Amino acid sequence: MQDPMKQMEFTSRLIHVVGDEGVILNPADQEFYVNDWLGKSHGRTVAVVRPRNTAEVSAIMRLCHQSQTPVVPQGGNTGMSGGATPDMSGAQVILSLNRMKRIHEVDPVNNTLTADAGVVLADIQQAARAVDRYFPLSLGAEGSCTIGGNLATNAGGTGVLRYGNTRDLTLGLEVVLPDGRVWNGLRGLRKDNTGYDLKDLFIGSEGSLGIITGVVLKLFAAPAGRVSAWVGAQEMTSVVTLLNRLQAACGPRLSAFEMMSGPSLALVTRHLEAHVSPLDKTYPYYVLIELADTNMSGLQEMLQDALTLATEDGLIDDCVVAMNEAQSVSMWRLREGISMAQVKAGKAVKHDIALPISSLATFVKEADEAVQKSFPELPIINFGHIGDGNLHYNLLLPLAISNTAYKETTDHLNKSIHDLVTQFNGSISAEHGVGTLRRDELKRYKSSVEMDLMNAVKRAIDPNQIMNPGKLL
Ligand code: FAD
Ligand code: MLT
Ligand code: ZN
Repeated sequence: MQDPMKQMEFTSRLIHVVGDEGVILNPADQEFYVNDWLGKSHGRTVAVVRPRNTAEVSAIMRLCHQSQTPVVPQGGNTGMSGGATPDMSGAQVILSLNRMKRIHEVDPVNNTLTADAGVVLADIQQAARAVDRYFPLSLGAEGSCTIGGNLATNAGGTGVLRYGNTRDLTLGLEVVLPDGRVWNGLRGLRKDNTGYDLKDLFIGSEGSLGIITGVVLKLFAAPAGRVSAWVGAQEMTSVVTLLNRLQAACGPRLSAFEMMSGPSLALVTRHLEAHVSPLDKTYPYYVLIELADTNMSGLQEMLQDALTLATEDGLIDDCVVAMNEAQSVSMWRLREGISMAQVKAGKAVKHDIALPISSLATFVKEADEAVQKSFPELPIINFGHIGDGNLHYNLLLPLAISNTAYKETTDHLNKSIHDLVTQFNGSISAEHGVGTLRRDELKRYKSSVEMDLMNAVKRAIDPNQIMNPGKLL
């Protein structure tokens, strides 16, 4: 929107819908919204508009539809793929859900929770706990990401091994379409085969099809507690074998299995205060294991026995079982600290890949060899949700690297890692979304049939292409 008069008229219409306090026009106050958490994506905006309810979202979308103004939906702005940042044109509106924070209903009989899309994930977890239920989506950004952002990216995190990703935890959705119409699919049903499953189109669509305004989530029985252990191992193959052993021995009681390479842990202990490894020696790989159940009886012994057996069989070199909740929390702080440690230590080339679990060890060996051949000194920060086959196979470039060198090296590394992922029939985008970061890579690896189908869906729902342009497709 280049014409200043039209821009003023447009922003005054926005103010008419949401009030003065719902529109941010001052560039200094827009800072949080136009830059991402990683400090990698930056943009400009006509206005940040913050509706309070679905009716206001609908009115805003009608205005944007009439004026063909592009819209960037935003939740907590913790995304890691540049999906919530506008471009540099200054022509796009940021529609932030951060004032839509109502939890409408918690139904412990139906085991469902109905909420606005702007509710922070930790508040959803807390509302479930308040009725002795459990909402299992859990990730490092849970204190600031929103459930709408989780849905839009189909977020994963550390509970997927047992409970699945955000898609698996969702029963119903409400979405405002690009022309302002509202689709109310807020149903708390476990079975509903009345045609195409529309909610699955919007989950993981990264704001490219509409604004998610409400959600019905599944709740689960609250675990009585958890037992955590920290393990050191020499080989990735041992880590994968340990996962299979624990799955066989503990069944659904195995609630997390998170791997960190030696350099990942070293980064955390070096760059974050009061983060100390629980083991005396260093190892090439560490695993944070967690068992949880509604009945704690025998849980600690089960984990202890499985780890003793794994030690006797030479799968692991050392381990420590947390003796209380405080020790569990310290272990989780190490795991969750990796993202922040990377930001402090350098400019990460981030990969968010998924592989068949049976291929993980061979993949890591071949990827390590390929990286070391081209860049012998480059720190490999490899960690992730091994139980889901999801690796964050990140490479750390120096903070002082020039933008040109960063781009060239990133392009080279992306191609080499993603080519290898494709050879193993893996995915180049597991849980963070495609955004702008992997948009060109997506075109390289998806078949033309898949791209045609996705573009057809986009054209059908957003014919004027106003929803989050430049992201995903
Ligand atoms: P935003 O960043 O605001 O937006 C993300 C995308 O969703 C954008 O494309 C945006 O346009 C779209 N969007 C947001 N809200 C809506 C809406 N209501 N309707 C339509 N589109 C919308 N992710 C994981 O999956 N697993 C992890 O383990 C994990 N760990 C993290 C740890 C840290 C420390 C940080 C900073 C991030 C982590 N993330 C992780 C990434 C991020 O937290 C998730 O992608 C999260 O789901 C994003 O939620 P958000 O509300 O911040 O969304
Ligand atoms: C995590 O698993 O901690 C985040 O998804 C990853 C990251 O920072 O790359
Ligand atoms: Zn992750």
